[in-house]
Amino acid sequence: MNLLIIGAPGTGKGTMSALIKDAFKVTHVSTGDMLREAIASQTEVGKKAQEFMNNGQLVPDEIIHDIISERLSKDDIKNGFLFDGYPRTVNQAIDLDNILKSLGMKIDKVIDLNINDEVLKARITGRRVCPNCKEIYHIVSKPSKVEGVCDVCGEKLIQRGDDTLESLEKRLKAYYSQTEPVIEYYDKQSLVAKVNADQKPQEVFEEIDSVLKG
Ligand code: AP5
Repeated sequence: MNLLIIGAPGTGKGTMSALIKDAFKVTHVSTGDMLREAIASQTEVGKKAQEFMNNGQLVPDEIIHDIISERLSKDDIKNGFLFDGYPRTVNQAIDLDNILKSLGMKIDKVIDLNINDEVLKARITGRRVCPNCKEIYHIVSKPSKVEGVCDVCGEKLIQRGDDTLESLEKRLKAYYSQTEPVIEYYDKQSLVAKVNADQKPQEVFEEIDSVLKG
């Protein structure tokens, strides 16, 4: 199964992706994680992406095209994928269609996570992440057992540089102007399943599970 998960910052794309990839045995690809790794290792892509991400702006489509083309050439994609946070512009969606066509693949479903913007503020400012294994926590709704330490691998948890209210505002603007049209693009192909993301994580997952099994 080839899936996309779309939603504003903090709607729970990463949290749901961890559950979906285990339940449906698909390869999880997060462009946000790939870009953060590129920044951490100061690759050419990382150096170019850094300023855009810190400013809450989208990284230019050409950079995303290069990292996605390379990722899609790997074998693990052939058993099914889940793209998290990609495509984020209509240009990226058209580009993805072309790449998939050349590989004889197609998208089966687009999961669109919906939530009120006010809820996102608390989710984003309370998020902590493990830079090593990528486990996602929240200081209120999903705290780690030992404060500041990852339950899974023991690494020190961090707060993402773009998890501030100021950056969230910019990221939301970018989402509504550049990414919402992507949902319309896939809606015209009858691929979109709208999911209520303002529920407990297990309930959100159950809604996704029934959409994907239905
Ligand atoms: P990216 O890393 O994709 O970030 P994002 O879209 O802003 O989304 P987030 O990771 O902030 O949130 P999420 O929806 O995954 O929520 P999570 O599950 O963590 O992108 C970052 C940047 O990279 C972009 O701004 C852009 O610059 C660049 N970029 C990436 N891809 C790009 C592309 N294709 N093109 C151009 N630029 C690109 O949950 C959030 C918190 O809420 C957590 O603490 C979690 O524990 C909690 N939570 C989750 N679900 C629930 C729930 N149901 N109930 C209560 N709490 C919950």
